[in-house]
Amino acid sequence: MESARRPDTTILTIFGAGGDLTWRRVIPALYNVFLDKLIPEKFAIVGLDIKEMSDKEYRDHLLEGINSFSRRGKAEENQWKEFSSMISYQKADFTDKDAYRKLGVTLSSKEEKWGAKANRIFYLAVPPRFFEVISENLGHARLTNNGDTTRVIVEKPFGHDYNSACELNRVLKSIFKESQIYRIDHFLGKETVQNILAFRFANALFEPLWNRNYIDHVQITVAEQLGVEHRGSYYEHAGALRDMIQNHLLQLLCIIAMEPPVSFDADEIRNRKVDVLHAMRKFSRDEVHHFAVRGQYGQGWIEGRHVKAYREEPGVAKDSNIETYAAVKFFIDNWRWQNVPFYVRTGKRMTENSSVITIQFRPVPHQTFPAEAIENWHPNRLILGIQPHKGIRLRMQAKQPGLQMVLGQVDMTFDYSNAYTRQPPEAYETLLLDVMLGDPTLFMRSDQIEAAWNLLMPILDLWDKTVPIDFPDYAAGSWGPEEAEALIARDGNHWIMLPLKDSEKEDEEINKHREVSKDGKAVNQKAGKIKLGEK
Ligand code: BG6
Repeated sequence: MESARRPDTTILTIFGAGGDLTWRRVIPALYNVFLDKLIPEKFAIVGLDIKEMSDKEYRDHLLEGINSFSRRGKAEENQWKEFSSMISYQKADFTDKDAYRKLGVTLSSKEEKWGAKANRIFYLAVPPRFFEVISENLGHARLTNNGDTTRVIVEKPFGHDYNSACELNRVLKSIFKESQIYRIDHFLGKETVQNILAFRFANALFEPLWNRNYIDHVQITVAEQLGVEHRGSYYEHAGALRDMIQNHLLQLLCIIAMEPPVSFDADEIRNRKVDVLHAMRKFSRDEVHHFAVRGQYGQGWIEGRHVKAYREEPGVAKDSNIETYAAVKFFIDNWRWQNVPFYVRTGKRMTENSSVITIQFRPVPHQTFPAEAIENWHPNRLILGIQPHKGIRLRMQAKQPGLQMVLGQVDMTFDYSNAYTRQPPEAYETLLLDVMLGDPTLFMRSDQIEAAWNLLMPILDLWDKTVPIDFPDYAAGSWGPEEAEALIARDGNHWIMLPLKDSEKEDEEINKHREVSKDGKAVNQKAGKIKLGEK
């Protein structure tokens, strides 16, 4: 969130240095921050993990990760040489106090060599069972008491339910101050997610319409083609609601629904977001089936490839009842959003990768045009593409060229790939730089996490305790269970699946859902496009 500024001298200690997250995301991100010349002038990475490895072996392993996952492709020799000279590795058992004593010696000797105190950042890129023990050991070793220059990054999952999240917050806060704790929700670091704030609050155009008087409903979809892959044993204790909705989708919802902040101060933004969570309607266990749907994928086809059912994935029980799909209808009980449904859904093994937020506006209050002119008429719709299509599209009505007044749809589009030549940074680049700079705006505060868990507890309770009778209930490569269609169709709406660039597909989609569509007048017609570029 900070403007381009180089952080002060920093030592980043990574617990879980040999893990997948470090390999795929953290180190490639740091390498890109280094290439952008934003890494501190005096900087070191100390990797800690259980495996015996020399510095050289560790660096070689990381280079492979960068070559496979960095957005800039393979590392260049000289640049890698300079970057890798900042990395060292220590074998460590996270439960052994001596590992922390040794770490303390390493950190102090680096500071002595530099002749400067460093920001000390401890990154817990480890399974959650280690969060508490590492934090406590850091505390015992007196590695945590340098005020705000000592920071801890905590990865998700943060808690398994409301009580465990509160307990984890309690433990962390007995060791660190809240201002030292950076809880990651990597969606908040995505360029397109940050752009929602810019879109809403840097333009005068939309805010006056951003309320129940003009908006009919909001849809948030995060669809993934990927299955659970090698993460079966983690996913068996999570499921889609915990893995995606409790954090990523609710955060997207908060950014869409929050009141305008008075400043860009970290706590001001986080206060406005947590206000949304507090205003969200909590349903009772008896009401859950009216508002939430779960599903699990069976076998199917994805882009011509046959894929396994969830229950056949490694690490997954043959009779697993974990949901790989979840859809929930939320309401926000405040003046701005009273009775506007927010439909959110997420699923693994869906037809396509697509994360999209759709703002469906209400119809015009009075239809001026004759019936024959408005055959192709639809209310305005705004689509915010998060990934892979990054951009914004506003559907409007326009007069079709010709001698008669006939209306049709046109789009105003903003497409990142057309508007900018610069590649956007990955979420972890933004987030890691922000931690080094001490800017917590894009991180989760304890009250946000607890409010999000609290909201979902009735659904989690019910789903944990009742056996779904029809799992698996959607084929891999589909758009999820039929029940999810019914959830939204009951309100006269349908899920809008819009590839950001292809209006034709949208029309097909509308036609498919004509029977349940509120405006009901959809006919097949290719939308025109008005391009808006960067100036
Ligand atoms: C993670 C979830 O938090 O987010 C994964 O645990 C999911 O299940 C991932 O696949 C999606 O993130 P991204 O950035 O790849 O869209």
